[in-house]
Amino acid sequence: MTAPSLNLTGVDLRAEIDRLRTERNAVILAHYYQKSELQDLADFVGDSLDLSRRAAETDADVIAFCGVRFMAQTAKILSPDKIVVLPDMDAGCSLEDSCPPDQFAAFRAAHPDHIALTYINCSTEVKALSDVIVTSSSAEKILSQIPLDQPIIFGPDRNLGGYLVRKTGREMLLWPGVCIVHEAFSETELMKLQAEHSGAPVAAHPECPAIILDHADYVGSTRGILEYANAMPGDTLIVATEPHIIHQMQRSMPNKRFIGAPGADGNCNCNICPYMALNNMEKLYIALRDLEPRIEIEEGLRLRAKKSLDAMLTMASNTVGQGDLGPVWVTGD
Ligand code: 13P
Ligand code: SF4
Repeated sequence: MTAPSLNLTGVDLRAEIDRLRTERNAVILAHYYQKSELQDLADFVGDSLDLSRRAAETDADVIAFCGVRFMAQTAKILSPDKIVVLPDMDAGCSLEDSCPPDQFAAFRAAHPDHIALTYINCSTEVKALSDVIVTSSSAEKILSQIPLDQPIIFGPDRNLGGYLVRKTGREMLLWPGVCIVHEAFSETELMKLQAEHSGAPVAAHPECPAIILDHADYVGSTRGILEYANAMPGDTLIVATEPHIIHQMQRSMPNKRFIGAPGADGNCNCNICPYMALNNMEKLYIALRDLEPRIEIEEGLRLRAKKSLDAMLTMASNTVGQGDLGPVWVTGD
């Protein structure tokens, strides 16, 4: 379902969004891949883990989620009493599409001794079939808490999974999903850029294939990449992730230079997330005005999905070492 298209000529969208935000007691959460005008008006901009935490903690009545559908569903799973609206309900994710719940359930059934460590970029149904959810910023920490003799299925992102296997030496069975955006980066074009900007480091998101990550000086989540940009000694950074994050970098570090890594022909828009791009000011205004499109999740499904998200939130905040916590996940149901 797509938000209604209405003639909004003459409407001061920024002022109306601000008015409705107060009137509805709404909080606007935005991901770093959103259009710059949405990032600028949001109450909070963050990576998937930060956004999940904010959604769980907010005392607002309404959460307007400028991101993709699995992120808004996560907010609803964690805050069921809030109204959660997503400006465009078609804002999906190729990783979610690559992991149909029935096929994932069959894969799990074929490996009954494995637990399912699952990337948050998946449907609510797949979360309900999983033991622990991870984000790109929490995956390594959570993996380090799982006993070494515990076999693991990791899905749906084979690139993030492969990166974790290489980095930690931990074997995992990988589901073969990919992000179409991070798959689009070209090694040849990246190397040309590195030659043009000699000495400039490369920061990459772990959803990139290994051939791109092999060139990276830093690999991490969107927030991690921002922190790296802040701490790096030089003044130029090549950024191998969705380019809307560069808006935040330029805002907080105006004296540094950020160059987006190119896609296949060096000049395409293929590294702009087409799902994130569906949200805009007009649709956010309508969502706050009509409180639609609204995320609804059947209660039994929500509770099953919440278990694996709660396990993530606990393990991501945990300060004890491997195995100290005991299993915080509960398989089954
Ligand atoms: P982060 O958790 O790093 O923000 O990643 C979200 C995402 O969808 C990346 O494609
Ligand atoms: Fe999904 Fe990739 Fe878009 Fe992130 S960038 S929301 S993983 S399609």
